[in-house]
Parts: sequence; C-alpha cells; structure tokens
Amino acid sequence: MELAVETERLSGDRPFEGQVVLVTGGSRGIGRAIARRFAQGGAHVVVNYLRHRAAAEETVAGLRELGARAIAVRADVGDPDDLDHLFEATRSEFGYLDVLVSNAALGKLIPAMQLEPRHWQRTLDVMGRALLLCAQRAVPLMEGRWGRIIAISSIGSFRVMPNYAAPGVAKAILETLTRYLAVELAPRGISVNCVSGGVVETDALNAFSNKEEMLAFGRRAPMGRLGRPDDIAGVVTLLCRPEARWICGQTIIADGGYSLLA
Ligand SMILES: NC(=O)c1ccc[n+]([C@@H]2O[C@H](COP(=O)([O-])OP(=O)(O)OC[C@H]3O[C@@H](n4cnc5c(N)ncnc54)[C@H](OP(=O)(O)O)[C@@H]3O)[C@@H](O)[C@H]2O)c1
Repeated sequence: MELAVETERLSGDRPFEGQVVLVTGGSRGIGRAIARRFAQGGAHVVVNYLRHRAAAEETVAGLRELGARAIAVRADVGDPDDLDHLFEATRSEFGYLDVLVSNAALGKLIPAMQLEPRHWQRTLDVMGRALLLCAQRAVPLMEGRWGRIIAISSIGSFRVMPNYAAPGVAKAILETLTRYLAVELAPRGISVNCVSGGVVETDALNAFSNKEEMLAFGRRAPMGRLGRPDDIAGVVTLLCRPEARWICGQTIIADGGYSLLA
C-alpha cells in the first residue's frame, strides 16, 4: 500500500480525518476516552457496548458534539453472531473501517482455585478470542486502506495480581495473538499492536472485591498516581498516527513505571 501518500494525507492536527474507527466497549471508561481521542482527530466512530445503553448513547452524543459521525451498536464480543451484526452495522453505516480497537472486557475476578470451566471459557471468549474474531471481520473492511488493529491489554498478563488469573491469561493470549496477527497482516498493509495498562481509574475497579488493595498497588507507580483513561487512549492514537507506521506486533506498556518495580 502507498503508505507515503497516506502519511502525507494524515499528518496535521486532525490525523484521522474521515477515517472510521470501531472501539469495542467504547461506551465507558478507557474505550470512551479512546473514542473521544479519535473523534477529536477527525474520525467517525462505532461505539460498541453490551449492557448499558444509556452510557453508549451519552458517549455517542458527546462524539457528535465533537463533529464526528458516530453510532452505538450493542453486541457481545464473546458471541460470534453478535460480532457479525456489529461489523455488518459498521459496513452498512460507513462502508469501510480504518481502525479496530479491541478493548471490551468482562472477566471473572476470583482466585484460580475457585474458577469453574464456565468462568474460564467466558473470560477467554470475551477478553481473548474476541480479538481474533473481530480481526477476521475487520480485515475485509480495511481492504485497500492502511488498517490498524490495536488490542488493549494489562500488566496482569505478566505480573500476578490478586483474583486476576483468568483475565491475566486472557491478556497473555491477546499479546501473543497480536504478534501472530501482525506478521500475517503486515503484507496486507495492516498494522497490529497492543497497549498494556497498569491500574486505571474506571468503573471496572468496582468489580474487584479487593478494590482498595488494587488502588494501593496502582498508587505505587513511580509517576505517583493511578492511571487515567486518557493515559491509555493517548498511546492508542499515537500508535495509529503515520509516525508509528514501522511499529509491528508490539505491546507498549503505559503504567507510569509500575511494572519496573521489584
Ligand atoms: N481499569 C483498569 O485498571 C485497566 C487496566 C489495564 C487495562 N484495562 C483494560 O482496558 C479495557 C477497558 O477497561 P475499562 O476499565 O475501561 O472497563 P469498564 O470501565 O468496565 O468498561 C468496559 C466496557 O466494555 C464493555 N463490555 C464489557 N463486556 C462486553 C462484551 N462482552 N461485549 C461488548 N462490550 C462489553 C462495556 O459495555 P457495557 O457497560 O454496556 O456493558 C464497557 O463499554 C479492558 O480491556 C481492560 O482489561 C483496564
């Protein structure tokens, strides 16, 4: 693909002008911050959600205020039929896709010894397999464009956090799959990378029975505070700018230095 031409066109204050971005779990938390960053950069956005329609509609209204075309689509990323619906809705509204952000997460947060097969399966379906099934549906919509796929991981893929066994394994799958997809899709002009966060202040932390312990972990980051959704969103958009075009299959850690500590 003619990346030099694309680079010329994309540089400037609105690097994503006219591009279409799909953010799974884009209605709240980190996904919402990602959706807003892309809209500020000129993109149109598909906001996927599962349970909270009002939050999705509020996010879409905010994106429209930024000048973006935006739609909300309810779909469970753990369900292949729902994913067919999500990508068909994207195709029928916009006709193409430039960026897929695989961000949605819903994992069982209990000790490994208490995990049942259904907990394990559901967590891996939503947090691991979804990247594969989304990529398979996204690539045909990226034909002839500089497609970018970004997965959102966490440092729980390699550091051990209480009650995080199932999501931690799912995140390890994401990071490994990122490398495989990156090699397979690079010849087709599509970049695949991953952004991994430390503890970020979102509603997701309420699902941890040990929330206070998690917050205390997060505050140990050398940068002296918890992560904010936009700390992750900024790295996602950075990886989708033309200047990042030579980055292939990498997991970029954005955690204020937390994972460097002994
Ligand atoms: N918060 C952290 O400390 C942290 C740290 C590192 C990485 N991350 C990662 O960042 C990503 C976003 O996390 P967050 O903290 O922003 O989470 P969050 O605030 O709980 O938001 C989760 C989003 O995902 C959607 N969602 C959940 N399950 C879904 C499913 N099966 N299908 C479709 N959408 C679904 C939710 O929609 P509904 O509300 O409609 O269900 C919501 O939009 C996740 O991949 C997470 O692992 C988070």
